[in-house]
Amino acid sequence: MPAEQQSPTPAHPDFETVYGQARDIGGWLTQAQARALWDEARAVPDGGLIVEIGSHQGRSTVVLAAAAPRARVVAIDPFVDGAMFGGLATRDRFHANLARAGVVGQVELRQAKSTQLRPSWTEPIDFLYIDGKHDYWTLSDDLLWTRFLPDGARVCIHDAYSSIGVTLGLLRHVLPSRRLRYLDRTGSLARFEVAPVSRADRLRILAELPWWLRNVGVKVLLRLRLYPLARLVGHHDRADPY
Ligand SMILES: C[S@@+](CC[C@H](N)C(=O)[O-])C[C@H]1O[C@@H](n2cnc3c(N)ncnc32)[C@H](O)[C@@H]1O
Repeated sequence: MPAEQQSPTPAHPDFETVYGQARDIGGWLTQAQARALWDEARAVPDGGLIVEIGSHQGRSTVVLAAAAPRARVVAIDPFVDGAMFGGLATRDRFHANLARAGVVGQVELRQAKSTQLRPSWTEPIDFLYIDGKHDYWTLSDDLLWTRFLPDGARVCIHDAYSSIGVTLGLLRHVLPSRRLRYLDRTGSLARFEVAPVSRADRLRILAELPWWLRNVGVKVLLRLRLYPLARLVGHHDRADPY
């Protein structure tokens, strides 16, 4: 094929440049967690598919899309109303933020709950990011999306060992799983791999439980505005531990 007919290699900015844009987008993903998502998305093959559950204003969407410029990103979010998530105004910000980051062409927004889309989903997924509704029942359903991941693929879950619902879902479904192996976490961003699971892998999940209990305690202290007590257990922020 003549050179002028070949599709150009998309510009591939480095992580620092992309995070410089992403950090101005409202959200809860930390820089270290964005880096972990970046590294996972970079491993997605050309033409591969990344599915993100819970996109909000697009902070993590921008990181995922920029890291894998030849992959598709399906971003799922119903844009729920309320003070926390902001409803349809958040969808407008999501579109504007993706446009500013130059990743619009790569991202397909599905404005729906993940639990509504999952039963009719058929496509294989190369990397899955779960950061939607954090209650036990939704997380339990969101874990069913891992059925679309091939062996060796990864899933990252935000608010693991921090949110009560997410953690109970992990204990109920991932702890006994023979297919999802716990790798590690960056703050509350936990990484899992589709791979055989050993007893040691399960013990590493259980070893996170003291950190989970500490985080639940910190959240209680923050709600009670007992910030000095939260500092005593090493939490120096007024935001929840993420
Ligand atoms: C914590 S925010 C996501 C933040 C985003 N991943 C980031 O790092 O920038 C959670 C999002 O999940 C969305 N959400 C709530 N229920 C959902 C559901 N059932 N399916 C998918 N997304 C949901 C909310 O509208 C909200 O935008």
